[in-house]
Amino acid sequence: MNFDITVVGSCNTDFISYVPRMPSLGETIVGDKFEVGFGGKGANQCVMSSKLGAKVGMVAKVGDDVFGSQTIDNFKSHQVDTRFVYIAEGVSSGVAPICVTPGGENTIVIIPGANNFLTTLEVDRAIEMINVSKVLLCQLEIPPAVTLHALKLARDRKVITILNTAPAIPLFNEFYIYTDILCMNESECKALCGIMPDSTDERSKAIIHFIRLGVACVILTLGESGVVYGEKEDPKRIVSIPALVVKAVDTAGAGDAFVGALAYFLACKQELPLEDKIMRSTHIASLSVTRSGTQKSYQSKHELSSELFK
Ligand code: RIB
Ligand code: NA
Repeated sequence: MNFDITVVGSCNTDFISYVPRMPSLGETIVGDKFEVGFGGKGANQCVMSSKLGAKVGMVAKVGDDVFGSQTIDNFKSHQVDTRFVYIAEGVSSGVAPICVTPGGENTIVIIPGANNFLTTLEVDRAIEMINVSKVLLCQLEIPPAVTLHALKLARDRKVITILNTAPAIPLFNEFYIYTDILCMNESECKALCGIMPDSTDERSKAIIHFIRLGVACVILTLGESGVVYGEKEDPKRIVSIPALVVKAVDTAGAGDAFVGALAYFLACKQELPLEDKIMRSTHIASLSVTRSGTQKSYQSKHELSSELFK
């Protein structure tokens, strides 16, 4: 058995309403279109990596309802290994009602359901998979203690650990000790270190903050402004990478496309410089914004320019 990436994270079913504008509190408005899709930050990142060609295994928990079984089928249809996707009895699967405006902006509510029932013991059972993976990928939609446990297991085995701090929840500093690559957006950065990364100075301060806490590389995703990152070797050197200029249709899941693509390049294109890996991931995430839905907006290797895979 050999794996490129193990994802320990969430699965949701997304209920996406396309609305002319966001309703205000107490207001009823008429929307334009409704779609159901496979989502959850863990599952999205997992499927993105797999669509690019990585061999990926998922460690997660779904409910014993139709959404759970469809989620497992969806993984299988993307060649994702599901032997450690557990089914919780008497619990509903995670769901996420999402609103998307014509400008592509979104609001998301998460009801975690079965995601909250994944245990550290169930992660332990997947040790054989983590052991033979190059990268472990986590987010924050399952119990934080389970995420931390997975990071520690992977670190013990010298597997590269990526933590995407979405959605923002308070974290103990211990999380940063076991994280090699930390990836967050602007609001998560503000929530986790109190610094809003809206200027070069503030970005640099935030990156140095997390490097001091033990992370080797900090990546800040800035939406249409692309990403900036810094590394432990030279924390003052902040590299900025622009996003592609695209017409935004639906930005939901774009952050996950970036993280999933990055995991792919780290595991499967090890020889590329980090800057190239991040640039290519940014490119792939930008393209996901031009299509509706979360997972279903991600392009597969054969749809993308072969330049991205050289
Ligand atoms: O990042 C987008 C994802 O957040 C959606 O798919 C939704 O399920 C929530 O987890
Ligand atoms: Na999209």
